[in-house]
Amino acid sequence: MTLIAHMTDLHLRPRGLACYRVSDTNMFAERAIRSLLSLTPKPDALVITGDLTDGSDPREYAVGRELLSRLDMPVYLIPGNHDSTDGMREAFADFPGISETREGKISYRVDIGGTQLIALDTHMPGRPQGELGTEQLAWLDSTLRSATKPALIALHHPPALSGITHMDNIGLVDAAALAEVIAPQAHVERLICGHLHRPIIASFAGKVMTLAPSTAHQVVLDLTENGPALFNFEPAAYFLHYHSSTTGVVTHMAYVENYPGPHHFFADEGVLWPGDEA
Ligand SMILES: [Fe+2]
Repeated sequence: MTLIAHMTDLHLRPRGLACYRVSDTNMFAERAIRSLLSLTPKPDALVITGDLTDGSDPREYAVGRELLSRLDMPVYLIPGNHDSTDGMREAFADFPGISETREGKISYRVDIGGTQLIALDTHMPGRPQGELGTEQLAWLDSTLRSATKPALIALHHPPALSGITHMDNIGLVDAAALAEVIAPQAHVERLICGHLHRPIIASFAGKVMTLAPSTAHQVVLDLTENGPALFNFEPAAYFLHYHSSTTGVVTHMAYVENYPGPHHFFADEGVLWPGDEA
């Protein structure tokens, strides 16, 4: 059994500053890490699919380093549009895969239990959209051909559209080229993404794409055409990707905040459970 925790869009800020004036992203991140540490069984690894920071400020990366140092599992990072590839490489040079460079991007392959993680970099300097680029796609193609373990491909910008117009407008510009690379590869079990700050499931190139919500604020669910860009405080959450040879990859959502329970299922006296003998 392999268990991969997947957080995204932490949007860390310099200590003491809120994000967009109202989202205490550092506090949310503290709670997310605390939730992760309380899990049984313990995940084999944590993957963070970008926007670790809100502004790629060295002080934000320092907050991230301190937070992640509390974890006793490997942590795999990729940049989002709010990070920068160079800033992340500088701050996390000692993290696995970070110092590997292709076309200036952070991309790497690692084994996690019975699966492999392929981490891709979609950051475009100065732009909110994402791009993989021909060199990184060529590397992905040769990597997928040479390593045939069940693969989860991590990238910040989801390649599939969501129907939330203002987010789709800042999506992955070379999604079609990615589809060509992954469609023929049967061992690609999952694309794991962030960026939209919502839990979303879609298919892309014949694969399942799971988009994790933010550990902090969420984008408002608004499927009207050209709806406004707004955020709210729907419950913050993250994903747990469970893999075994009998199940393949199964994704569960775990919440950052506390909630009531657990409680035992209980039948009132004289009331039978469905299927019980009278
Ligand atoms: Fe984000």
